[in-house]
Amino acid sequence: MSIDTANAAHAPLLSVDELLRLPKTLVIAHRGLPEAAPENSLPGFAAALDHKPDFVELDYRHSSDGVLTVIHDEKLDRTTNSRTRFGQDGTPIGRKTAAELRELDAGTWFSPKFAGTRLPTLSEAIDLVCPKAGLMIERKDGDAAALVKLLNEKKVLDRVIVQAFDWSFIAEVRKLEPNLPTGLLGERELDAEKLAKIREIAPRVIGWNQRDLDAAGIRAAHELGVKVWSWTVNEPARARELVAAGLDGLITNRADAARAWLAEK
Ligand code: G3P
Ligand code: CA
Repeated sequence: MSIDTANAAHAPLLSVDELLRLPKTLVIAHRGLPEAAPENSLPGFAAALDHKPDFVELDYRHSSDGVLTVIHDEKLDRTTNSRTRFGQDGTPIGRKTAAELRELDAGTWFSPKFAGTRLPTLSEAIDLVCPKAGLMIERKDGDAAALVKLLNEKKVLDRVIVQAFDWSFIAEVRKLEPNLPTGLLGERELDAEKLAKIREIAPRVIGWNQRDLDAAGIRAAHELGVKVWSWTVNEPARARELVAAGLDGLITNRADAARAWLAEK
């Protein structure tokens, strides 16, 4: 199938497969637009979508009753009012039910303007993002079967890419749903051992720490037929350097600016 690349940046309903084949650097909005709105929140995802990224990235974990909930940290303190609400420090998200998590304010820590923002469920985030952009789902904890079940129920297998630092989780996802696009997250040198594992698991993408990427690493991944994205690229000069080295996707806090960086010489 041929893709109209002039319009593709604004095409809302390309499948992940089609997005990955676009001859351009993809922009992936890391945690939404975290300099303008609370990270991993629905207002943050909406703010990112205004800038037409190719993907929005989020992190999820499980509540104690198994609801996939969008949050980065294992503990609730940094991005919610859990200390005040539950009267203690260091409450892990996995100790609270989805109903208890709904009581939390996940916006005021960022700005009073966002008071009353709730922790989204993964289901809510899918409903907001998937009609407009691809969704990069980073699993922080939880089993593969629960995620695959949700994605099947939501009928978004072709709209999302599932990534994790835990490569055995991704191998399990690949077994359960071989057509679901996946990515392996990692850092440090892309050495022979890692490349062999990448070949074995056969993801569509690797998402690598920008500090540890160079042209040779990108080339080695490309030789395996794998695209290379990098996190978290927030500096224009580094973005241009990586793109010149062959990078396929910028995972960035600045989805509002990244395309302009790439257009500059
Ligand atoms: O895209 C990968 C990146 O999000 C990994 O780092 O800590 O921001 O989830 P972190
Ligand atoms: Ca992440």
